[in-house]
Amino acid sequence: MNEIEQRIAELNKLLHEYGHAYYVLDQPVVLDSVYDQLLHELIALEEANPEFIFPDSPTQRVGGTVLEGFQKVTHATPMLSLSNAFNEEDLRDFDRKIRQAIGEDYSYVCELKIDGLAISLRYEDGVFIQGATRGDGYLGEDITANLKTIRAIPLRLTKPVTIEVRGEAYMPKKSFEKLNAARTEKGEELFANPRNAAAGSLRQLDPKIAASRQLSTFIYAIGGDGEAYGIDGHGEMLDYLAELGFPSNKERQACATIDDVLTFITKWTEERPNLPYEIDGIVIKVNRYAHQDELGFTAKSPRWAIAYKFPAEEVVTKLLDIELTVGRTGVITPTAILEPVLVAGSTVGRASLHNEDLIREKDIRITDTVIIRKAGDIIPQVVGVLVEQRQEDSVPYKMPTHCPACESELVRIEGDVALRCVNPLCQAQIAEGVKHFVSRNAMNIDGLGEKVVEQLLREGYIHDVADLYLLQVEQLIELDRMGQKSATNLVEALEKSKDNSLERLLFGLGIRHVGEKAAKILAEHYETMDALMEAEFEHLKEIHEIGDKMAESVVNYFANEKIQLLITRLKDVGINMTFKGKKVQVEVGTNPFAGKTIVLTGKLAQLTRNEAKAKIEELGGTVAGSVSKKTDLVIAGEDAGSKLTKAQSLSIEIWDENRLIEQLQQ
Ligand code: IVH
Repeated sequence: MNEIEQRIAELNKLLHEYGHAYYVLDQPVVLDSVYDQLLHELIALEEANPEFIFPDSPTQRVGGTVLEGFQKVTHATPMLSLSNAFNEEDLRDFDRKIRQAIGEDYSYVCELKIDGLAISLRYEDGVFIQGATRGDGYLGEDITANLKTIRAIPLRLTKPVTIEVRGEAYMPKKSFEKLNAARTEKGEELFANPRNAAAGSLRQLDPKIAASRQLSTFIYAIGGDGEAYGIDGHGEMLDYLAELGFPSNKERQACATIDDVLTFITKWTEERPNLPYEIDGIVIKVNRYAHQDELGFTAKSPRWAIAYKFPAEEVVTKLLDIELTVGRTGVITPTAILEPVLVAGSTVGRASLHNEDLIREKDIRITDTVIIRKAGDIIPQVVGVLVEQRQEDSVPYKMPTHCPACESELVRIEGDVALRCVNPLCQAQIAEGVKHFVSRNAMNIDGLGEKVVEQLLREGYIHDVADLYLLQVEQLIELDRMGQKSATNLVEALEKSKDNSLERLLFGLGIRHVGEKAAKILAEHYETMDALMEAEFEHLKEIHEIGDKMAESVVNYFANEKIQLLITRLKDVGINMTFKGKKVQVEVGTNPFAGKTIVLTGKLAQLTRNEAKAKIEELGGTVAGSVSKKTDLVIAGEDAGSKLTKAQSLSIEIWDENRLIEQLQQ
């Protein structure tokens, strides 16, 4: 080894040690300026002697070339998730089951549940080789280049072991605040919370972005068999991981009983705000591997661990008004207009009130002080009212009797919670219908935003979607904010949309109960609009995944003479009416919903049925009405009845609502 090589090796070693003390142990041993000076010396030496750049040199963290995409990585050991506990009862239940299975002689390790994203890191002979996201638990994405930029992740371990470890990459609260402040200044969209910011950073193809984001990591498990390393339990394993140079969270605690676990939870519920990073719960694991082995796994999670989730943050604000919107199908939806308030990382000014029943049940009144939270940390929701703070002159909210858009009388169809405007000429409904028709997943016509559509209807340029295709550039440039260029582009986009495959048109027409997936199935099955229009109820419902309700809706839709006329006009303007055989753009297997048939049953508390359905469908799942052998998954809300029993008897996988929300967020 010559002198230069020797110095480079020495600098590598020193910088590893100093970096570990700083980023992993949080106990710097030299001044920052000393570290920087040594790093610059190394950079200079490496520049002059590139043959001595070691792959684990600290200079290799800064982020190299921009990637074209992420490679898929199959996890050698699946990355499972944990089942959840939300209260003491759930935890005592968990404890009881463990006692029943393994007797009295066991103990727990409690850890903080870091709110970031799960990662898996592979080391060969002590050198960091590959890092991946969790993905669907079996197949993740290779984000090695991004992970290398995280200083807390060691590029070389203290021993030359070959090991795969699991942990959480996260963004410290301070970095998150700084990042959002900088984004505010630049007028960029803000991240809702540190978890999203961390995930967003690691999904960038340019590693320089991750490098600039100051992420960190905690490692909490070995992927694979801990016993292979001569270790006999989780606590000992965490010590071993720290010994290898991994950042392991120090706030863990051994707990002999479930009461000790509850004390630990109480402590961290209080101290949570003082931590420099976000946690969303406490993870409780049975310590000894021998016990873990005895307890085993369910399909999705270990029986020897559980995640206690902190309740969602609730804040109080004023209800300023209730806004009513008319949907595409005439349903009137009330929305709470709130005094803007910060909740779970973002400012909330509106929350859906869903329907009249909900407003009545909770007796929500304009001017009330209301409690807000985000269901599953995403969807703002009014939880209730602080009645004691109510203004004396407030009155119960009454839904209007007439449509806020067209003033025709509203009706409530029996058995339906929704109030509807049934006037087929209601401008608001037509506007929503047109917006849906042109939307990305339907006819995909760019340049027809909300304002333009409303203006076109108001000015009488269009009366329905067929009229869109008669629009001329000369007419369009008359509209507000519409120049020659955008008018030309719009006409071109309309022209292009004529060639769409049939399923886009079917979805765009907005036939009740026919979502994107069903439109594809129908188009694929009947191939032409004419054949579908003639399809009979019996024939339709024979198709796998087309239920009675949908079949009936399709038959009724096409029986309507006005619809027949509309279809003729669409044909006349040259819209393609045949299936062109494009594949649905959902990558099967990338999320737990893709390609699955899912049944929702019971009362959902945090999402409406429609929201849940829409989200599942967005991810490529199909929501079916009844449980059968073909059902892959049942989501059971409160008071679920016969469908749940049937699912149990068929051994179909069952999730509760929280699990659903958790999976929707991943
Ligand atoms: S243990 C078999 N420990 O929480 C699963 N998970 O569903 C082992 N998480 O996605 C997970 N902090 O990413 C474990 N101290 C901790 C954790 C933790 C955060 C995440 C993990 C997983 C989810 C649990």
